[in-house]
Amino acid sequence: MERIILFGGAFDPIHFGHLQMAECASKQLGAKVLFIPAKISVWKNESAPVKDKIEMIKLAIKDFNRENVFDVSDYEASLENDTNYTIDTVKHFKKAYPNSEIYLLIGQDQVNSFHDWKDADELAKLVKVIYFGRETYSRSENVKRFNMMVIDGEINNYNSTDIRNLHSLDTTDGVINYIIDNDLYFMQEIKSRMHKDRYIHSKSVALLSYEIAKSNSVDNPKRALIAGLVHDCGKELPKEIEAEIMKTHYSEYLYLDSIVYHQFTGEYLAKKVFGIEDPSILNAIKYHTTACGEMDDIAKIVYCADKIEPTRGFGSEKLINSMKSSLKKGFDDVMTSNIEYYVNHKVDYLNPLTKACLDRYYKK
Ligand SMILES: [Fe+2]
Ligand SMILES: [Fe+2]
Repeated sequence: MERIILFGGAFDPIHFGHLQMAECASKQLGAKVLFIPAKISVWKNESAPVKDKIEMIKLAIKDFNRENVFDVSDYEASLENDTNYTIDTVKHFKKAYPNSEIYLLIGQDQVNSFHDWKDADELAKLVKVIYFGRETYSRSENVKRFNMMVIDGEINNYNSTDIRNLHSLDTTDGVINYIIDNDLYFMQEIKSRMHKDRYIHSKSVALLSYEIAKSNSVDNPKRALIAGLVHDCGKELPKEIEAEIMKTHYSEYLYLDSIVYHQFTGEYLAKKVFGIEDPSILNAIKYHTTACGEMDDIAKIVYCADKIEPTRGFGSEKLINSMKSSLKKGFDDVMTSNIEYYVNHKVDYLNPLTKACLDRYYKK
């Protein structure tokens, strides 16, 4: 008999933890998994529309290569009422799949409160309720009372909130691209801080940085993506606020041309507005214009991607390919092109930060 696991939730957005749970449960029971995103999310203001959540689940399933085992249902999404009870969803799928054995996957935190669910006893008779987390909940009375079944498996601690806030991006590339393309979650904050052209540039820097980081097998390449997204967030701050931030937090750099101040205010906003703490991401933002004598791979990538991203429109394909095939050679090539530009345009580029970068990394 075919087995189907109903996996409801906010999926706002879907992340690796959801996929791991679905994978574990599916393998243990030899069952298909049906993701059923809720129509309304608890986090109303910062939530994505349910049609986007469905699209992201589809992309995640594709990225995870599970098109034959996982599927998404718009059953709850297309209900007229905003409130929906699990018992109704279960009855719907019992009817839709009369010859299948139906399981209901619930979250760990729902085990202890299950008795409060509408028609909980009937629910547990209609389907087998399954959950993760043997350690924490094995002694819950509800496990016995509702004949729940535990699914074994280590599920890493990922969460959607961290993705919505740009603290981590623990989901598949298809989902990340969708978030960026459709201005969801953290993209709203970034968008609100800049004009359209700069927003397009920031997205382009982020995606190119991520690609370069991946093709060079850089550790945790999503750091490059995050730094790229945020790098120019300080550029359109009112001058008086910029001056205040510079005076208070970056007074040692006040001697530089004010055109580069936005790299410092960008770092400031990354910390204050986005709560970013990763030193590598912060450093990449902080020196994306001048470069400096302390640059890790992420900093070099974001620095270069900022100069050569395709929407700059100066035929940078060669430099992009060079960066993708070798970070070392690509960095030298971008620097050579930069220096040429500065010399031709009589720009004085030898401030102490840029000089320190050239002394340490250029053609070394
Ligand atoms: Fe910039
Ligand atoms: Fe930029």
